[in-house]
Amino acid sequence: MFKSKKTQEIVPNPNPPAAEGNTNKESEKSHLNGTLLVRVVGAVNIGNLSLGSLPYCIVEFDKNEALINAKDGGSEKPPLWQARAHFDVSKESNIVVSFYQKRLINNEENVILLGTTTVEPIFEDQKMVDDWFPIKMNETEGLCDEDEKRVHIQVCYKPAGAKKSLSIDEFELLKVIGKGSFGKVMQVRKKDTNRIYAMKIIRKSHVVERSEISHTLAERNVLVKINNPFIVGLKFSFQTAEKLYLVLAFVNGGELFYHLQKDGAFTEDRSRFYISELLCALECLHKYDIIYRDLKPENILLDYSGHIALCDFGLCKLNMTDKNKTNTFCGTPEYLAPELLLGKGYTKVVDWWTLGVLLYEMMTGLPPFYDENTNEMYKKILQQPLTFPSEMSPLAQDILSKLLNREPTERLGNNGSEEIKAHPFFGGIDWVKLYNKKYQPPFKPSVSSATDTSNFDEEFTSEVPLDSVSNEGNYLSATVQQQFEGFTYEDRDKHIGSMVSSSLMSSTLNARPLSRQIGMNGRGR
Ligand SMILES: Nc1ncnc2c1ncn2[C@@H]1O[C@H](COP(=O)(O)OP(=O)(O)OP(=O)(O)O)[C@@H](O)[C@H]1O
Ligand SMILES: [Mg+2]
Repeated sequence: MFKSKKTQEIVPNPNPPAAEGNTNKESEKSHLNGTLLVRVVGAVNIGNLSLGSLPYCIVEFDKNEALINAKDGGSEKPPLWQARAHFDVSKESNIVVSFYQKRLINNEENVILLGTTTVEPIFEDQKMVDDWFPIKMNETEGLCDEDEKRVHIQVCYKPAGAKKSLSIDEFELLKVIGKGSFGKVMQVRKKDTNRIYAMKIIRKSHVVERSEISHTLAERNVLVKINNPFIVGLKFSFQTAEKLYLVLAFVNGGELFYHLQKDGAFTEDRSRFYISELLCALECLHKYDIIYRDLKPENILLDYSGHIALCDFGLCKLNMTDKNKTNTFCGTPEYLAPELLLGKGYTKVVDWWTLGVLLYEMMTGLPPFYDENTNEMYKKILQQPLTFPSEMSPLAQDILSKLLNREPTERLGNNGSEEIKAHPFFGGIDWVKLYNKKYQPPFKPSVSSATDTSNFDEEFTSEVPLDSVSNEGNYLSATVQQQFEGFTYEDRDKHIGSMVSSSLMSSTLNARPLSRQIGMNGRGR
């Protein structure tokens, strides 16, 4: 067993780079506040019962999933559904319903995708969608004629009325799923809609002590702004005098780190699939002039079907146009790019180095320049020739040597993500199909229900889920509290205004203490 790699942030740089945190270049997604009722009334001609158990469907809205089982309609009759799910609505999104059936194939239980349906809700008060929709077949299945598979769905949106900001009391705390220096991440259930979320709880005093206000607000602002299929979705954010709360879609397939640890290494096909989806996520961040800076298997989650969801935007750097350079020494030792180690300033292109490190780690089980001693590892990152196991394909070796080019201006991706996508390693990938999640993932995590946490470390999940109470907030000055003002995600105009006031983001930049370095190099494998 090896420990997860720890993010490091040390800032020895005496010349602070330009302010970070201002994200006012793009307007935000339109903000809604209400609930959506989705009712699966019935479906016909799907899931041949002689081949397996009753079908079930996963209803997905804005990265939240609800599982709906069909009920037995008796022999000769189609299965009954008659089930409903409520979703919290904070922005417009389509509903995607995916139908599955469990089947025994060669004495092994397999989950077969039967098809999917997309429904566009009407976000006008009380207007109902009530219709039959075609279920699109999985191309490889060919069970029966596509026209015949249909589902009857009703959808109705209800605005919440007078806006009020959320509080922790509206959530039931279920499990601890992660822990960091900032606080905890917990699996929670929103009491009114029953939806399951991940809640990242951050202590304001820790943020202030570490002078991380700019990063914390940047994390929230990136999440509000970005809507990408491979980036975890932020649903709400709110605060008390002591703490900040980010409520995110709960991604239940576990960290890529967990799966890599279990399997040792991934096949080239599986690695290519993950890298392709991550490439789309990083490309989207770069388009918004954001550097991610903390790519590693611990920050990559798998959803229930096996697609990627990138999380943890605590190290993002905003306002980084193509030529902009920054100096902040941060990231995770194994993944640090040479130009970052050299302290001469770096650009977006550092993210393509980390993509190369990740691809190498997925395919071999270890990062390319790994050493238990961090200083030795830094030397290797700067000097050691890159070597490959003999069984690695020539195309994989070629893309790795181009992504892991120590000269950033010659690195693959320096002229944009398109040049990475065009590398023959990805030959044959239809990028639009990939973006639309139309490729079936090579691996489906075992997830038994929306609340299942079996893919998360027992070290966390065995802990009692508590949101500790303290009076730390009393010690934070009004000026400090004011800096957190824009954090609450409740009203569109209000948070655009707060994002425009970038002065608060820049005031504490580049002042993280060294304490976070302690124990940072432990992988111990
Ligand atoms: N939306 C989510 N769904 C499921 N698990 C999550 C989610 N967000 C975070 N987690 C889990 O919690 C862990 C810690 O979260 P995160 O990476 O955001 O914090 P961190 O690395 O400790 O934070 P930071 O780098 O901001 O100090 C993740 O590695 C992941 O296992
Ligand atoms: Mg993390």
